[in-house]
Amino acid sequence: MRNTILVTGGAGFIGSNFVLDWIAHGEGTVINLDKLTYAGNLDSLRNLNGNSRHVFVRGDIGNRDLTRQLLTKHRPRAIVNFAAESHVDRSIHGPEDFINTNINGTFYLLEETRGYWQDLTESEKSAFRFLHVSTDEVYGSLGPSDPAFTETTPYAPNSPYAASKGASDHLVRAYHHTYGLPTITTNCSNNYGPYQFPEKLIPLMIMNAAAGKPLPIYGDGSNVRDWLYVGDHCEAIRMVLDRGGIGETYNIGGRTEKTNLEVLDTLCAALDVLKPESPFKPHTSLREFVKDRPGHDRRYAIDARKIESELGWAPKETFETGIRKTVQWYLENMDWIERVTSGEHQRWIVKNYSDRR
Ligand code: NAD
Ligand code: DAU
Repeated sequence: MRNTILVTGGAGFIGSNFVLDWIAHGEGTVINLDKLTYAGNLDSLRNLNGNSRHVFVRGDIGNRDLTRQLLTKHRPRAIVNFAAESHVDRSIHGPEDFINTNINGTFYLLEETRGYWQDLTESEKSAFRFLHVSTDEVYGSLGPSDPAFTETTPYAPNSPYAASKGASDHLVRAYHHTYGLPTITTNCSNNYGPYQFPEKLIPLMIMNAAAGKPLPIYGDGSNVRDWLYVGDHCEAIRMVLDRGGIGETYNIGGRTEKTNLEVLDTLCAALDVLKPESPFKPHTSLREFVKDRPGHDRRYAIDARKIESELGWAPKETFETGIRKTVQWYLENMDWIERVTSGEHQRWIVKNYSDRR
């Protein structure tokens, strides 16, 4: 077994940040298996062009033959599974892709991993890890004074996306319990930062505000999310891979609960400062309340005490520093946004927002 890891979904938002981070901090090769859906973008990895430590393979985690070939050829010591359909609104409009990738895809990946792992030597077997990247949305929605989600909070997913991620978490758990596969699952809160596809709240709002377009706020804007800068998530995953307990789950979150209106205020204030010449100042004036998301979860909050106390992880960015960095990055990388928001994504925007006003 080599010092190689297989990352799935490594051309998406968190996956690409993780791959860049891993190559910068770690050793060995990253095999990056990604289907390149609308959310996957090789542009996010262009800094790795010509770097022999990054091997990109276009493919589906549900393609068992391809996964088997990759495992046999590269003999990774770990798999980090980011590959997923990840946008809640898309799962409401069309859940099928979520079932195919998040549930069936994870199942096929687990099956091929099990076959590979069973044929390893005893020392290779005990060193191997399958790290499954999941979400806090599997725990459902909190009331205003409920305690934050812990690793033992019962699952209560509310959207097709959350249900499909919950199902994948259960499969991962079962493969450990039944077959002894050395799995670890992480459940993280809302991420933000560079390379996030501008269908999610923060990049969508930056893109719209910079262009003087309306900032569509679902419902009353009081829904709460617990925000974490993507670099802090990547560091947590590295630590879990290195020292996390086999069969364990770790909640990851920034202790940064914000209403969507608070997020917009922080983001617009950062834009006002970073784009002083903008004709759209103050950018908060672009706010527009639109029809709510069906089944919209009211509040998420993560209790991260387990990863903090067991592994010594803590986020480095505050919301203010993270948002400032993020706004700056998008302003400096408008060409990236233009490239990823052409064609198919534009058709999706029209479909999603035409019935909300
Ligand atoms: P993303 O949508 O930006 O990227 C997903 C990537 O997976 C894309 O590159 C896409 O091409 C790839 N992919 C999709 N289907 C595939 C398939 N069948 N085979 C191979 N590749 C496929 O998602 P993200 O925001 O980077 O999220 C990554 C993971 O982290 C997901 O599992 C998500 O559930 C989880 N997560 C995300 C957040 C968040 O705030 N974004 C928070 C917690 C957990
Ligand atoms: O909690 C972790 C999850 O966070 C991840 O598992 C998901 O992959 C990720 O997409 C994210 O889900 P959310 O639904 O919380 O993120 P989104 O950015 O879509 O929305 C954040 C909040 O902003 C939510 O309350 C809905 C609201 N919203 C979103 C959009 C896109 C708006 O008010 N207007 C919008 O246009």
